[in-house]
Amino acid sequence: MDLIIVDNYEELSQRAADIIASCVEADPACTLGLATGTSPIGLYAKLVEKCQAGEISFKDVTTFNLDEYRGLNPEHNQSYRYFMNHHLFDKVDINKEATHVPDGADPDAEHACAIYEQLIERNGGIDLQLLGLGHNGHIGFNEPQDDFPAKTHLVQLTQRTIEANSRLFDSIDDVPREAYTMGIGTIMAARSILLVATGSSKAQIVHDVMYGLVTPQVPASILKFHPNVTIIVDKEAGALCQQ
Ligand code: GLP
Repeated sequence: MDLIIVDNYEELSQRAADIIASCVEADPACTLGLATGTSPIGLYAKLVEKCQAGEISFKDVTTFNLDEYRGLNPEHNQSYRYFMNHHLFDKVDINKEATHVPDGADPDAEHACAIYEQLIERNGGIDLQLLGLGHNGHIGFNEPQDDFPAKTHLVQLTQRTIEANSRLFDSIDDVPREAYTMGIGTIMAARSILLVATGSSKAQIVHDVMYGLVTPQVPASILKFHPNVTIIVDKEAGALCQQ
């Protein structure tokens, strides 16, 4: 895994956006795996700038998001579909039909997850998967557990994740308790992976992912087994690591 420690969020956003833009430049019809959370907001803004300046085009790009809350409609302002429209899709020249987020409004978990996994497979997989990092090491919504789930599946969110994500809702009671997420196998099948993490509250988990054992109790630790992973952190999140 390549670890890049940068000075601040601005630099992190620029470096990450440059990596994604290079992928799109190299193959204008590439497939991007995308992530939500606060960490990627800055890099999406940089990609919007590049697109609006005519430096890159998303016209032929296909995207698959990692996850979605179960029970939220796409119009709900806390749904991950809404987030993606707001931060990226509505502001660039992407064909919305080629953007995919698990269907949180489908109550049939087996159906929603199987369809999503099939779509990714039929599309030929993901070229570059962007990831954030939960404080407990979760990627997508793959929470710490006894094994590494292979495919897109239904998850029960942990209390820690519900609390962390409640900052974005009116009240903690509004945070959905379940989500659909790509599996660890789905993520590991991506041809390259870019993980971003910021802030001192992520320092310990970034350290554990980099130097700890590979264990499903720290889901992101499995990235050590992937041949092409870049991790970009700001100096607060990288405080316990050496470069
Ligand atoms: C959520 C998302 C994850 C994201 C994580 C970290 O739980 N499902 O994909 O990585 O939050 O978010 P943040 O970047 O806001 O710390």
